[in-house]
Amino acid sequence: MIKRIGILTGGGDCPGLNAVLRAVAKTAMFKYGWEVFGFRDGYRGFVLNQYMKFGPDDASGILDKGGTILGTSNRDNPFNFKVEENGEAVYKDMSDVAIENARALGIDCMIIIGGDGTLSSARDFWRKGLKVVGVPKTIDNDLSGTDFTFGFMTAVDTATDAIDKLHSTAESHHRVMILEVMGRYAGWIALKAGIAGGADVILVPEIPYDINKVAEKIMERKQAGKHFSIVVVAEGAKSVKGEVVVSKVIKDSPDPVRLGGIGNKIADEIEKITGIETRVTVLGHLQRGGRPIPYDRILSTRFGVAAVELVNRSEFGKMISLKGDVITAVPLEEAVEKIKTVPPDGELVRIAKSIGVGFGD
Ligand code: F6P
Repeated sequence: MIKRIGILTGGGDCPGLNAVLRAVAKTAMFKYGWEVFGFRDGYRGFVLNQYMKFGPDDASGILDKGGTILGTSNRDNPFNFKVEENGEAVYKDMSDVAIENARALGIDCMIIIGGDGTLSSARDFWRKGLKVVGVPKTIDNDLSGTDFTFGFMTAVDTATDAIDKLHSTAESHHRVMILEVMGRYAGWIALKAGIAGGADVILVPEIPYDINKVAEKIMERKQAGKHFSIVVVAEGAKSVKGEVVVSKVIKDSPDPVRLGGIGNKIADEIEKITGIETRVTVLGHLQRGGRPIPYDRILSTRFGVAAVELVNRSEFGKMISLKGDVITAVPLEEAVEKIKTVPPDGELVRIAKSIGVGFGD
């Protein structure tokens, strides 16, 4: 018999997190009469026992709000957690402390909302005997256990809007405009926003580019009377002879590498080869902020309700998943095994190539 559940949001924030919290809290409290405890700032609050108990009004008025009312962190790994000992920072496995916090509060199971880092820890908690259900979140859409994560479509919407705006200024100034988007090692945001926004070149991590071929595409357009070009580049894109461009390394983060800077790198190269004035926009965290679009609000609500139903059926150790248009669940073990990347010869790349988009290959 479930009486109390815990919930946390981990990893980078993304639009739709509050919509999931709302769906979980409303279903758990009003449909089933359970109590809901939310841990603050992802696994940090779980380890440090910082939490809030959802009151009847806490899940109201948050459906359209960006971010997460619980807070989040993408640098706290409960299995390798930074603590201070004798004035020095040391890293310790604090997972037992977190499990004890849940036990002391009488929490019967945890609903953990996150991307692959957060859900890998959820899997490890499950292996240690904690009852968990995972909910897939990330603007990157790189989780292999689900067709879509919530937040992704909002990020694509934001990036598409940016491309639309870049078009008019690119055309007026006869420039090459480069838009660098997020996505880590997957090119989903670049590919979808690039197609939706009518980009001329899309560079994704899955298709290493040759800068000369990118320049050729731009020159071809110029010769055809099109004196501007739009290039969308994923932060994880790399050239045929190069590595990814790293902006910083955050030592205590479960995934320490932060990508960024490829936009400026290719801008210099394109300007040098083509002689066309080139400018860069790095969209950055705008892609993670703000209101979720209706698609993500609906998906988040479906995920949140489904997570509670899974708990009610005692189906633990699973992650909610969208397959086609059906909400289902997959074992956490499988869900975090590998990331989902863009198939280089998949339908989206093929249709983009058919209409003349260059991938630098
Ligand atoms: O995983 C989400 C994401 O926004 C990635 O697309 C990006 O590489 C990373 O997080 C940025 O992390 P941070 O918020 O630490 O800069």
